Amino acid sequence: ANWQNSWVIANWKMNPSTQLTVTALMTDLQQQIPTDALQRCNVVVAPSFMHLSTTQQAIQHGSCNIGLAAQNLCAQHADKGAFTGEVSGAQLKDAQVNYVLVGHSERRQYFNEDDTCLIQKIRNAFAHDLTVVFCIGETQAQYEQNQTQDVLAAQLMVVKQLAAEFANTQLGNLASRLIIAYEPVWAIGTGKIPTIQEVQNIHAFINTTLTDIDASLATTPILYGGSVKADNAAEIAQCPNVNGVLVGGASLDATSFTQIIQAFA
Ligand code: G3P
Repeated sequence: ANWQNSWVIANWKMNPSTQLTVTALMTDLQQQIPTDALQRCNVVVAPSFMHLSTTQQAIQHGSCNIGLAAQNLCAQHADKGAFTGEVSGAQLKDAQVNYVLVGHSERRQYFNEDDTCLIQKIRNAFAHDLTVVFCIGETQAQYEQNQTQDVLAAQLMVVKQLAAEFANTQLGNLASRLIIAYEPVWAIGTGKIPTIQEVQNIHAFINTTLTDIDASLATTPILYGGSVKADNAAEIAQCPNVNGVLVGGASLDATSFTQIIQAFA
């Protein structure tokens, strides 16, 4: 993946319900995405664990250079072992996965993932050379009470702790393994999005916060997520500091997703 390029990442969540649909979606996508768009935009898809291998095979047999992400990984410090129902970073790497989402608001909300858990997941991802798409965002109530910046700053303390660990243990370059996705919880799946000015301000705030943590994080890609559709992608793509998007619902339709890619290519 080229770090200077933009990013368009599909989060399929717990969709679709059959392998057949995955195969059809991947076929349509690979037919529709113009090859030259992939030279300017890194395209990544995040299927469920069940569909990683089908998707990987589609990528391998297709002509498009599309990255493969998992939506989750195990928080235990283990590559294998007695952790029923979990999938390790080592297993993802072995399945030719290169990216993993961590900290999505649905995991924070429905699966009670806290900072301690998220830090361990990120460590496990880095241990296997997976690039982490770390998701942050405020809830509707926090937005209404003007707490957005405080909430994001607190969520980014996870990055601060990891930066300190990197400095102490010389784990390598944190900046080359991290992507931030700003997803206001109230914009996810609702059709509501912040104003372009708000997106711009918040992305600038995230960039400053990251740069304060470590100067090398100044170039960390910061993606926007939440109700990104074909018809608002071009406007979002114009925002300074928006290096791409994380797309839920609209990524399940090959035509819509391709139009979003074109807006960022
Ligand atoms: O991770 C992407 C997601 O949470 C946004 O979902 O459906 O609003 O695009 P959606």
